[in-house]
Amino acid sequence: MGALARALLLPWWLSATARPASPTPVPGTPALPRADGLALALEPAGAAANFLAMVDNLQGDSGRGYYLEMLIGTPPQKLQILVDTGSSNFAVAGCHGLLFCCHRSSTYRSKGFDVTVKYTQGSWTGFVGEDLVTIPRAFNSSFLANVATIFESENFFLPGIKWNGILGLAYATLAKPSSSLETFFDSLVTQAKIPDIFSMQMCGAGLPVSRSGTNGGSLVLGGIEPSLYKGDIWYTPIKEEWYYQIEILKLEIGGQSLNLDCREYNADKAIVDSGTTLLRLPQKVFDAVVDAVARTSLIPEFSDGFWTGAQLACWANSETPWAYFPKISIYLREENSSRSFRITILPQLYIQPMMGAGLSYECYRFGISPSTNALVIGATVMEGFYVVFDRARRRVGFAVSPCAETAGVPLSEVSGPFSTDGIASNCVPSPSLNEPVLWVVSYALMSSCGLILLVLIVLLLLPCRCRHAPRDPEVINDESSLVRHRWK
Ligand SMILES: *[C@@H]1O[C@H](CO)[C@@H](O)[C@H](O)[C@H]1NC(C)=O
Ligand SMILES: *[C@@H]1O[C@H](CO)[C@@H](O)[C@H](O)[C@H]1NC(C)=O
Repeated sequence: MGALARALLLPWWLSATARPASPTPVPGTPALPRADGLALALEPAGAAANFLAMVDNLQGDSGRGYYLEMLIGTPPQKLQILVDTGSSNFAVAGCHGLLFCCHRSSTYRSKGFDVTVKYTQGSWTGFVGEDLVTIPRAFNSSFLANVATIFESENFFLPGIKWNGILGLAYATLAKPSSSLETFFDSLVTQAKIPDIFSMQMCGAGLPVSRSGTNGGSLVLGGIEPSLYKGDIWYTPIKEEWYYQIEILKLEIGGQSLNLDCREYNADKAIVDSGTTLLRLPQKVFDAVVDAVARTSLIPEFSDGFWTGAQLACWANSETPWAYFPKISIYLREENSSRSFRITILPQLYIQPMMGAGLSYECYRFGISPSTNALVIGATVMEGFYVVFDRARRRVGFAVSPCAETAGVPLSEVSGPFSTDGIASNCVPSPSLNEPVLWVVSYALMSSCGLILLVLIVLLLLPCRCRHAPRDPEVINDESSLVRHRWK
């Protein structure tokens, strides 16, 4: 209750306009980053990969995404590319959108078709081609890759972002216009001869979301760099290779299980997506989490606006609010399916400071939002961990990230194993489970179609007899005469 008295709730736009260190506020546009969905020690076989060179090759923050410098074309044009594990197309802004001018590249080849990609928020259209691409902070050679040059976009290149292209690192299944358009990472694995694995560390945990500076991060292509994690890497299987879809067994708020049916956590999928800002939860799970966080926190009467994202909560600079909020744990199925492990985030990761120093108070937003079709482990959660996308072994790994700490206190934990007793053997509704139901439905549809067809045939035949039989064959209306003439 003490916290409630001291916490000052502001509508977010008010505090956003009051931001002292705002880089360039755009009139009419909220200065907040978009709420969701920017809406990312093996030695590689290929000698050209250099993991140490990849350490700290990313920049960005959870609000606007983490990006990588790439060189495209001949002579090379330098671009900053958003790393997105929730999509599978590689695309860059075209000439008038600032950047890649394919007509200036001697190695560019058009493929002769356009593609449109829609994201949770935003979309773009571009023409597809291929060109040579170099990642200076990873390889010293270049690779031939498919790249879309964006000529039209909506809500995609938002104000304040510092990147001008997107690198979709998910599976080819999601690639547009079809899975036959080879993804950048598939091209890289083939040409650089690196193992089919990449890993990511994003270092913005506990730092203000929308300050003018950027944080570091690492995208390790082809393996795992030991200096980027502490303790063990725990792996969960990839359920289906499209998004990085995993299976969530349980959620705990302040050590208390939400006790929902575990299928609710995977409705209709649970994915790991570096291109989404927040932790997004299916509506039912979101409601339960808000309930539990509000109950567990020492500020039970907190305004609804805070939970919905409409308001920020502000505290005097001398005080941080994190001690009032509980830890959140997500339990994932281990490779041995009768065991699980958990990843835990401290409130520093989901109660996010917005502005950085400047005023006498600091305002925070709730880093969790509802979703209609997925549970998304977005950048807010990923910032706590070194996340390994082990495509070769069809699994995603989590380890504690050394950069996720403030004042020496770790902001995340990974621990296990735990038993899966009392949890369904499969929390992901699989197509095979629904198959009998689908068969029944299709038989029902087929028989009703048959019935309707029968009725139609009867109706077609009956009027012919009824109308014409009793009449004089010569007295016919114009329509039937037309038909008759044709028949002759
Ligand atoms: C670049 O490639 C050459 C071989 O072509 C290799 O000897 C060299 O070590 C590589 N440099 C880096 C930074 O990976
Ligand atoms: C899987 O885990 C269970 C429970 O810990 C254990 O009894 C079993 O031996 C494990 N199976 C394998 C193949 O490791």
